[in-house]
Amino acid sequence: MKVAVLSRNPEMLKNLSDFLATDDSSIQLQFWPAGATHLAAMVEQEQPGVLLLETAGGREDELNGVERVMIRHPDMAVILICAQNQPEFLLSAMRMGVREVIPMPVSGPALQQAIGRIRERISWRSAPQLPGQVLAFLPCKGGSGSTFLAANLAYAIAAEKKRVCLIDLNLHFGDAALHVSEQAPSATVADLVAQIQRLDGALLESSMLRITPYFGLLAAPDSPENAVDVRPESIERLITVARGCYDYVLLDLSRTLDANSIKALDCADAIYLVLQLTLPFIRDGGRLLQIFASLGYPKEKVRVLVNRFEKDGEIGLRDVEQTLGLKVARTIPNSFGAVAESINHGRPIIDLAPRDPVARALRELAGELVQIKPRSGGWWQRLRGNAA
Ligand SMILES: Nc1ncnc2c1ncn2[C@@H]1O[C@H](COP(=O)(O)OP(=O)(O)O)[C@@H](O)[C@H]1O
Ligand SMILES: [Mg+2]
Repeated sequence: MKVAVLSRNPEMLKNLSDFLATDDSSIQLQFWPAGATHLAAMVEQEQPGVLLLETAGGREDELNGVERVMIRHPDMAVILICAQNQPEFLLSAMRMGVREVIPMPVSGPALQQAIGRIRERISWRSAPQLPGQVLAFLPCKGGSGSTFLAANLAYAIAAEKKRVCLIDLNLHFGDAALHVSEQAPSATVADLVAQIQRLDGALLESSMLRITPYFGLLAAPDSPENAVDVRPESIERLITVARGCYDYVLLDLSRTLDANSIKALDCADAIYLVLQLTLPFIRDGGRLLQIFASLGYPKEKVRVLVNRFEKDGEIGLRDVEQTLGLKVARTIPNSFGAVAESINHGRPIIDLAPRDPVARALRELAGELVQIKPRSGGWWQRLRGNAA
């Protein structure tokens, strides 16, 4: 990404260059000791992806010049650094399509975050070419830990810089959002279903509770009566649109099998069947597998997740595998204190207790699902690392 930085003031240009210094080779910085009057020629020649322009007072003739350049180069994102902070000025800058206006005195973090946001948008614009994988999480019985695992795995996948969304399909009593956020969602599955005809990636995206730049969560309806209009066709449409926007689409399901949840299971590439090592879970696991067989799902579609696993328990993994006729895909250890604290605070366990065995297991599972690329240093990585 080419970032062109313009200022007539040499001291300001030097400050900006200090603030933006990075060893991230994917960001190319260019500094121009010039103002808006030289803009058109520079942009024509260099074609930067981001233009950062310091315009001191934000004079109208300068802004008109910026606007003309922006019309010729609609894909270029513009950041203005400006002492002017009158609402009318900010409004006209935004109307022109200026992405960010940073007030003086400018600070390093404000500048870095503004560029970070723009870069995020650019990467979203080139959304995944391949449709995302849909992973459904189904508890064998309530209380298996399925919601906890789905929400925290989504967070762990996002930490690997993959776009992930979690759709809470516990349509009556969904609470997945509480596991990873303290914010209240602004929209829910019910709101999208009500306008399903016009659902596209942009609407889906704007309805998500944004947990990190890589992780969006679509919350369950806020009361059971809002779930009555949800139909299997809408579930299918929702999942199809989500697949087109995200690398991973995780579905948090309740134990109740009805037409909606069966549609979600049909759409899934894999079903994580979550159970614990006690007889009632295993018995219900067996029943669910019979239903899956009658629905024509191949055995490879189902992945058994044993949660709250303790090695010296009375029932072993072999016993489960023999009873279910399926290998256990993964175990997640039991860790009551850390899990309860994570849920109570709405903070993902990999952040709250990164060394906890549950956090480790989730990171491993996320790592298996995605390709891990090595990190390099620089403010851009730090920013993304903190945000994700
Ligand atoms: N690995 C774990 N270790 C300890 N407790 C866990 C673990 N996973 C889940 N729990 C506990 O189980 C409870 C139920 O989890 P939840 O995700 O709501 O289950 P489900 O969605 O299957 O009904 C959580 O409130 C949490 O306290
Ligand atoms: Mg649940």
